[in-house]
Amino acid sequence: MLKPENLLNLAKNFLNQNVHEALERTVFNNKKIISESDFSKFHVDSVRRVIQYAVSNKLVIFESGYYKLSLISKTGALELLTTLGDSDFVQQVNSNSDFYMTMTEKMRKVVLLGIELNIFTLSSNRIQISKEVEPFLNESSSLSMHLWIQNFIKVSSKLFSVPCLISAIETGQVQWANAFGATVTNPFDLMSSHPELFKNLMEGMHQSNVTDSNFVTPLLPLKNCKTILDVGGASGAMGLSICHHHLQITQYMIYDLAEAVSLYEAMFERYRDQKNIPVKFRKGDFFAKANHLGLFCLDESEKFDVVILGWIIHDWNDEDATKILIRSKQHLAQGGKLILLEAVLPDDRLGSVTMLDLTMLVQTGGRERTISDFENLLKRSGLKMTAEIDTNGRRKIIVSEAI
Ligand SMILES: C[S@@+](CC[C@H](N)C(=O)[O-])C[C@H]1O[C@@H](n2cnc3c(N)ncnc32)[C@H](O)[C@@H]1O
Repeated sequence: MLKPENLLNLAKNFLNQNVHEALERTVFNNKKIISESDFSKFHVDSVRRVIQYAVSNKLVIFESGYYKLSLISKTGALELLTTLGDSDFVQQVNSNSDFYMTMTEKMRKVVLLGIELNIFTLSSNRIQISKEVEPFLNESSSLSMHLWIQNFIKVSSKLFSVPCLISAIETGQVQWANAFGATVTNPFDLMSSHPELFKNLMEGMHQSNVTDSNFVTPLLPLKNCKTILDVGGASGAMGLSICHHHLQITQYMIYDLAEAVSLYEAMFERYRDQKNIPVKFRKGDFFAKANHLGLFCLDESEKFDVVILGWIIHDWNDEDATKILIRSKQHLAQGGKLILLEAVLPDDRLGSVTMLDLTMLVQTGGRERTISDFENLLKRSGLKMTAEIDTNGRRKIIVSEAI
């Protein structure tokens, strides 16, 4: 199955340049070599996470107890993403065989980066979009990542700017206010201040979740499951995929934030391709009414064979994540399963998941976790992990039951 890895590599290339510069200007502060003691002047947990990203991407080398900043080349990753977000450009590349020869020198450099990352192929002075990437750039393809690219250019690239990364290193705070003004403290504030960006963010999230949901769905342990509660199920990327694969499902309830549900419902109507899909939406709030036992706006008697939380726990710190898990657990039918769909950090906290961890640092105040971090969170919430299933996508399936 196709994976959008090449586009993610381009986003990573942009992040690499900015992380390198942010570290150079803060923790390294013009020094070439530092040790852990230099972290203490900053927000230690955030510095550690940024350094783990940097080590994973060879921006920083760790040797004999010291961290050394490496040299990297600064290339036009954002220019290339901007170009790919323009459908006229994609059309021109595909239809004009002289395109490479007629480009400006600056543009040619950008395209060379695309060739390096296997976004373009070049043969006999003709460039083409590579076969692996084409379906993700084509606006009408079901795998299109077009709106995800737009979101990266307009929102993510701002949150990952050098000043925002520096502020995250210094304070450990999310960066919405720095990127979009004091009135924006979380993505939902964009709804009133920047409605187009909010819509784009949600559409981009849907697109990036479609491909990953298709990796997860066939492996879900849903044999005798008829009813599902999808906590924070958004616009139903997962719901659609599950209902298509597991035809025995009679009820699929998406529980999400009241303010966002109307948009999600409208998106779902646009993306659904059949009439008889048993998806229903319920407006709520994970944290409303502190003394409520189950999820607010769901009756405690509403029970489900399976409760799914996909890309939810990583948005929150341990305390809030535990609250969400305890409330979600209340809606499990006797013998039901609570399933987390999350990227998992390896025990050394290095590797590709660190890119998502930085996203959580600047965007949600949450974090990526190792499997034992998840096991502990589940235990604190009265749940026992019973299985951990690998997928070919970015997430693992973590299955648990009430203790
Ligand atoms: C990363 S998205 C989840 C995407 C989806 N589960 C998937 O796998 O495709 C996080 C979701 O949590 C929802 N959310 C955020 N805060 C919430 C709250 N306080 N109560 C309910 N839902 C909330 C958001 O609206 C969003 O749909």
